[in-house]
Amino acid sequence: MPLRLVVLISGTGSNMADLLGRVDEHPEAGLDVVAVGADRDAPGLERATEHGVETFVVEFPGPERREEWGAQLAVRLDSFSPDLVVLSGLMRLVPPDVVRRFHGRLINTHPSYLPEFPGPHAVKDQVEAGVKEAGASIIVVDNGVDTGPIVEQQRVAVMSGDSTESLHNRIKQTERELLWRVLTELAAGQRSLPVGQD
Ligand code: GAR
Repeated sequence: MPLRLVVLISGTGSNMADLLGRVDEHPEAGLDVVAVGADRDAPGLERATEHGVETFVVEFPGPERREEWGAQLAVRLDSFSPDLVVLSGLMRLVPPDVVRRFHGRLINTHPSYLPEFPGPHAVKDQVEAGVKEAGASIIVVDNGVDTGPIVEQQRVAVMSGDSTESLHNRIKQTERELLWRVLTELAAGQRSLPVGQD
């Protein structure tokens, strides 16, 4: 049985689209993206539709209603019976109830070499800090901000003259390779995820 994945995004979903392309090209990889969801009407959802993947939106209603959003999100996620939920550019903190419910089945890609530069502006922060090496990480989600156990990570060189955008594009190439490696190895039973706190 293929590994059932639900991918959550907030924006353009270029990493998600890359994943869908690879899944299409490699049916032998044992991966099935059963749905792509978002917290808003994200442009990336259209790319999922083009790949024939079901999409859904659970609109984020504002920070004061985060728990309610989380409960709705959990119901939608559950309806797809995912083996794994992949946060691929979901720019929201997932509420503790959702982290608990999907304990050990929730991973996140992040554009830095964690624990360096957590948070929503990681690439800008790395450019402003003038680092020579940035990074890309995949973590298991816990209740902190990008604090969960590291699944896989890799350094990414910063070139002179890099803008936030050019560096982010290079980091995304690495994120895509890391995510593909992690997912295919999980599907093949060649790795398991580190256990995080719930
Ligand atoms: C990726 O770099 C992902 O790691 C990052 O958003 C980007 C999504 O790009 N996620 C975070 O920063 C979460 N804290 P995309 O929409 O082009 O795939």
